[in-house]
Amino acid sequence: MPDQEQRPKPREAVRKMAPYHPPTGNRATNLRLDFNENTVGCSPQVINRLVQRLTRESLTVYPDYTRVRHTLSEFFQVPTERMLLTNGTDEAIQVLINTYVEGGAQGADEVLVPRPSYAMYRFYAEVAGATVTEVDYAPPVCAFPLEALLAKITPATKAILISNPNNPTGTGVGLPAIETILKAAPNAAVLIDEAYYEFCGVTALGLIDQYPNLFVSRTFSKVYGMAALRMGCLFSQEANVAFLRKAQSPYSVNTLAAIAAEAAVEDPEYITDYVTEALAARTLLAGGLTKLGIEYVPSSANFLLGYFGNRAVEVRDALRDKAILVRDRSYEIPGGVRITVGTQAQARQVLAELEKIW
Ligand SMILES: Cc1ncc(COP(=O)(O)O)c(C=O)c1O
Repeated sequence: MPDQEQRPKPREAVRKMAPYHPPTGNRATNLRLDFNENTVGCSPQVINRLVQRLTRESLTVYPDYTRVRHTLSEFFQVPTERMLLTNGTDEAIQVLINTYVEGGAQGADEVLVPRPSYAMYRFYAEVAGATVTEVDYAPPVCAFPLEALLAKITPATKAILISNPNNPTGTGVGLPAIETILKAAPNAAVLIDEAYYEFCGVTALGLIDQYPNLFVSRTFSKVYGMAALRMGCLFSQEANVAFLRKAQSPYSVNTLAAIAAEAAVEDPEYITDYVTEALAARTLLAGGLTKLGIEYVPSSANFLLGYFGNRAVEVRDALRDKAILVRDRSYEIPGGVRITVGTQAQARQVLAELEKIW
């Protein structure tokens, strides 16, 4: 019988990490306002295309990205050499860190991230054994902490990871501030994660020509309603993308995701209609919160961060009892609960319950 106490020792970076368990279980039958997904589903054309192209043969062969690369390159107006298809934004973050950030206890590279922000920035930086440096968004306004971030850039800063607009605050940062950061950190890979781009219309894609340290990501997990498929894109100058490709496994995007992405961008009206509805729902939710005396952070994305004081967890639980899921973020922003917006009917539904609870 082998000694059960003797086992391979994980790397120190992994031993030190706190486990990350987003509450992804048993969500299906609820009104899901907790993950900023599309709350009505992807374009029906995506499903049609998947059904058409799904054959026994199509599953036997390794993915061929020729078609999807071409379609997405036209859609984003970016040459294929400047674009990497990724298994969601998560893989984009991972590949970027694997390419540019050196780990190790002493002399580890620094990864600079605003806080609170998307949890996977810290996650992949920690797995790599990097030193994570954080700069805080200050409530209640949660404006982008530009000066504080600039002050924390050092020669050891090898990556700066910014969500624009930011999750969970919903606040955005303008292109002039992004350019200031790019100029201040020429040796760092600066990622502008545009997961919620479609709701705000601000993009750094047009700056790629000018800045060799700029990386921009997009995802099909949010407005496109395809989070289950795991599909994203990472953009940068050609020389950078060549290195990113070296650090990426060759078939990380599966065939169904590739087919779905092609169909999704061929139905742009579906996306503009959804965005129009979600923005109307956001206005409605914001007005309803104000009527209830609940403050919130003005948002450029498809969610609102409301301030529920010391009742944040209670409100989250009470809504869950009514089959409405929202995300408690009070552990990082006092009183913060993040509510996704989708349709106006859904916003009315959550407001009706909040009226009873509050
Ligand atoms: C800022 C940000 N980036 C990316 C994602 C999604 O990543 P993925 O494309 O891997 O689904 C999220 C989802 O919550 C997010 O908030």
